[in-house]
Amino acid sequence: MQGKVCLITGANAGIGKEVCMELATRGAEVVMSARNRAQGEQVKDQIIAKTGNKRVRLLVADLSSFQGVVGLCEAFRAEYQKLDVLVNNAGIFLTDYRETSDGIETQWMVNHLAPYLLTRRLLDLLKNAQEARIINVSSKAHLRGRIDFNNLNGNGKYDGLTAYSQSKLANILFTKELAHRLAGTHVSSFALHPGVVNTHIGNKNSGGWMSWAWKLGKPFMISPAKGAQTIVYLATEPQLAGLNGLYFVNSRPHPSSADSTDRELSNKLWKVSEEQTREYLTVA
Ligand SMILES: NC(=O)c1ccc[n+]([C@@H]2O[C@H](COP(=O)([O-])OP(=O)(O)OC[C@H]3O[C@@H](n4cnc5c(N)ncnc54)[C@H](OP(=O)(O)O)[C@@H]3O)[C@@H](O)[C@H]2O)c1
Repeated sequence: MQGKVCLITGANAGIGKEVCMELATRGAEVVMSARNRAQGEQVKDQIIAKTGNKRVRLLVADLSSFQGVVGLCEAFRAEYQKLDVLVNNAGIFLTDYRETSDGIETQWMVNHLAPYLLTRRLLDLLKNAQEARIINVSSKAHLRGRIDFNNLNGNGKYDGLTAYSQSKLANILFTKELAHRLAGTHVSSFALHPGVVNTHIGNKNSGGWMSWAWKLGKPFMISPAKGAQTIVYLATEPQLAGLNGLYFVNSRPHPSSADSTDRELSNKLWKVSEEQTREYLTVA
């Protein structure tokens, strides 16, 4: 991975931290994105100390606002002319309805609209790389997902798991639509389920039975380092060159839900997401 620039969101914790550690070990230039500067700096120092790779940078951005995503893009563009690997990993699970400062339901924003906007604003830099990859961290939860175009925010009947599943289905639809739209370029997009991983995603922002169930399940979950493996595989495996739009589990292509392969749906989602982010799509 020498000479390759990799941008990873949600890099300060859980799966994202381990992806950064592994890519730094393999010699990549690792650009970490995190919303908490102190935590980000601490992890950055750990990665440099453990891997000996000094080409690790931190960009601070809160991806729950459109301006936060734009700020991250601008900070990245100020330093780099190309991007080889973009890992859209930052994600959140909430049991209660929370609206962002832009009036968007938070899981829809952080889990889907932020990756959509970030990717679109960085597409030219991805095209500048010799062979670029966009990796969207989805989940098996997409299987119970449905895109409710009439009520993307889940107003009135909010259920956290339904909103999470919707956003994770959106990750795969976005991946597949990107693959269609990028056909003929040397930019590929992949989605994946990392496994059920022992991180804090299930109890950081959730209450009630869900938080308890997550804590009880922890002994049966895989480690964050193991959870990072499919992402690292997708970022580094030379044999994937030429493949596009696939969903992976355990570093192997895997079937995803019928909805996730519906081209009409992915095209509609692209257009609706474009509408939601329109004001922020143009790079100055
Ligand atoms: N763990 C699993 O079993 C599992 C299964 C399937 C899919 N996934 C997916 O894997 C990805 C990583 O999750 P994880 O399990 O590693 O969870 P995690 O440890 O909670 O990490 C999530 C990361 O996203 C960041 N994040 C959340 N909201 C953000 C915001 N507004 N702005 C910027 N960053 C934000 C978090 O930052 P803070 O530390 O500041 O909160 C953290 O760095 C997610 O997309 C998740 O949906 C996880």
